[in-house]
Amino acid sequence: MSRFLLTRTLDENAAESALRADVLAGLTRPDKWLPPKWFYDGRGSELFEDITRLPEYYPTRAEREILLARAGEIAAASGARTLVELGSGSSEKTRHLIEAMPGLELYVPVDVSESALTGAAETLLAEHPRLRVHALIADFTRPLELPDSPGPRLVVFLGGTIGNLLPAERAEFLRAVRAMLSPGDALLLGTDLVKDEATLVAAYDDAAGVTAEFNKNVLSVMNRELDADFHPADFEHVAVWDTEQEWIEMRLRARTELNVKIRALDLVVPFGAGEEIRTEVSAKFRQERVREELAAAGLELTQWWTDAAGRFALSLATAG
Ligand code: SAH
Ligand code: TRP
Repeated sequence: MSRFLLTRTLDENAAESALRADVLAGLTRPDKWLPPKWFYDGRGSELFEDITRLPEYYPTRAEREILLARAGEIAAASGARTLVELGSGSSEKTRHLIEAMPGLELYVPVDVSESALTGAAETLLAEHPRLRVHALIADFTRPLELPDSPGPRLVVFLGGTIGNLLPAERAEFLRAVRAMLSPGDALLLGTDLVKDEATLVAAYDDAAGVTAEFNKNVLSVMNRELDADFHPADFEHVAVWDTEQEWIEMRLRARTELNVKIRALDLVVPFGAGEEIRTEVSAKFRQERVREELAAAGLELTQWWTDAAGRFALSLATAG
């Protein structure tokens, strides 16, 4: 029996019509906006991996430090036979957890990026001769149907990706995760923490310009998928810290007045000089906020771990 299964819950047509709908809705409103999942085509996933290796981008290293220190405790607390990971990407850090889980039978990585899923599965299957992998190409903001999987289950959501959801989306997402958990299951959640503005802004506006390229990749996705004529060089990458909301906001700012054609939508999008598209937020947390948001979804925070420098946190929660 093959140890690898890949289920596509998003067929290409559904993905394309979702992109059309999002672009039409997002670029025809006065405050232009695009949802972040469209960053992650094959190229976007590669660029994100490059970001994780930048000197300014501390979250990946901080989260890895916690996972390395706490994998044994997490494995013992969960006793999981199934590990479900939302937004798994390359599964690079998850391997530390998998190595510490001797009872693990099944790994279910969930991502919109097919190339990231197949790449990660290949490495993990080679490293763990008894592990089964059932990858799901799926949007974790939509209702998710998990494959048959032995309990107890540990659901992990790493990388601070929860911060890329807006507060209302986060609440809905956490309620959906809560609904996925049976008694004895747990959630492991990675959150980046509030810290000084200079450190935060540098992490999202690196000197080498990789994050700028990543942000602009969404323009290439629209050019390719929707036959649009965005010129990435016409836009400037902007990352600002919003003190009130406690989130980093990523934007693309038109350098001059522009008219962009999106042929598949039969649409011309006018930009004034300096006009911006908001492309992503990355919320930063404090322990109280994590505890409250979990509680509001019926989840109880049972463990809170940070790296030695206190930059990033992993929370373990159970269905309370
Ligand atoms: N967990 C990895 C990757 C984080 S980057 C890490 O910690 O390094 C965010 C990941 O979530 C990407 O792999 C992206 O493809 C995926 N993603 C973003 N939005 C998604 C959505 N709505 N549904 C499923 N996957 C999504
Ligand atoms: N989950 C990552 C984060 O919020 C995603 C990310 C990192 C990102 N750098 C980015 C998203 C730049 C858009 C642009 O840290």
